[in-house]
Amino acid sequence: MAKLVRGFRDIFGPEAAALTALESSARKVFKLYGVSELRIPTVEQKELFVKATGTTTDIVQKEMYSFEDAGHRLLALRPEGTPGVARAYIENNFAQGSPVQQFFYIGNMFRAERPQAGRYREFEQIGAEFLGNPAPAADAQAILLLKDIMKDFGVKHYSVKINSLGCEKCRPLYRQALIEYLSSSKDDLCDLCKDRLERNPLRVLDCKIDGPKFKESAPKMALCPECEEHFSQVKKLLDGKIEYIVDPCLVRGLDYYTRTVFEFQAGESSQNAIAAGGRYDTLIKSMGGADIPAVGWAMGAERTCAALGSLPDCGEKKVYVVSLEKDCNEYAFNIMQTLRDAGIITEGGLFDKNIKGQMKQADRTKASLAVIVGGTEKERGTAELKDLTSGEQKEYLISELAAAIKNIK
Ligand code: HAM
Repeated sequence: MAKLVRGFRDIFGPEAAALTALESSARKVFKLYGVSELRIPTVEQKELFVKATGTTTDIVQKEMYSFEDAGHRLLALRPEGTPGVARAYIENNFAQGSPVQQFFYIGNMFRAERPQAGRYREFEQIGAEFLGNPAPAADAQAILLLKDIMKDFGVKHYSVKINSLGCEKCRPLYRQALIEYLSSSKDDLCDLCKDRLERNPLRVLDCKIDGPKFKESAPKMALCPECEEHFSQVKKLLDGKIEYIVDPCLVRGLDYYTRTVFEFQAGESSQNAIAAGGRYDTLIKSMGGADIPAVGWAMGAERTCAALGSLPDCGEKKVYVVSLEKDCNEYAFNIMQTLRDAGIITEGGLFDKNIKGQMKQADRTKASLAVIVGGTEKERGTAELKDLTSGEQKEYLISELAAAIKNIK
């Protein structure tokens, strides 16, 4: 028997419903912000991620699902959406009309990480990218958009951390200072951080093992006046609209960030980032496009659903249609279609089972009402409508049934 591949999952029941509800919330809020959908492919050239996501990242170094296709092209399953959006922006000449464009994407990403709770090898991201706007207002809007999706979906318990990683002018100095500082304690670093020291020293600060040891005493980022001004404007625009913590040790695992970075975190586990993002002002140019600044984020859909806990009951009523006799099956079947035409959620059709079997199924589907028909009802053009909570039952003409169901609170 074939089995699931490690790190991959079947998603069903309440979790599937929660993911769908989250996608609806996101689409609703994206519309409010004038962000339009961009459907990027699942497969891209491997080179795209190597260049854009970055050679120093864990993603590129060890987590990519890459393969050679029959035409000897080196391809990869996308580990994140931002490089694909940037490629599409350049390739489709989106900047032609106006460089300012706002896109969202919803889709599965693939990373060969060590699987654990909240960390999967295939997971869903809902992402947004604001391209072409260098103003702090773009950073603040991106963050508030994310907050509004959390609010619409119902996630209440999370914290927001923000930081500025500076630009090509001020970051190299900081990077160097950090390498010098950490090199003196190299023997105390975990194996992963020993390896990170030269290629991505900022990551040492958010390592779960080494971060706490060095965070306090490590040199702090000194932003250049332009980055300082940008960051203080972002904070000013956020003040009073969202609670946030400035965390000077918040660094991100991707190479392309400049200036503002942020993370929405829920819970204490090591996989507590439910969404994250930041500015990437140099990425599009480095990929051969024009000098287009950008800021964006991606939300881990499964982690966001987990942060919600259980999905609130949407209060929609469901009807289950039961046929008591073989002769009435078609009559019952037609009623099912009539109710659906009227916009009522309807299940049924298990007509080869007796009434007990059908009512049991009604219970399993969590229907609140049953429509029951036998020979008498068929003759009279009626149906019995049973409230499955109170047990109350009343006969209605088929022509009045949908209205009667809608009237029930
Ligand atoms: P990221 O931090 O790599 O950023 O991923 C964003 C979110 O995806 C994480 O905060 C987490 O919720 C979720 N996630 C990541 N890996 C996994 C996994 N293995 N299992 C489950 N969930 C996961 C990016 O991907 C950037 N592209 C975000 C961005 C967009 N920055 C600018 N624009």
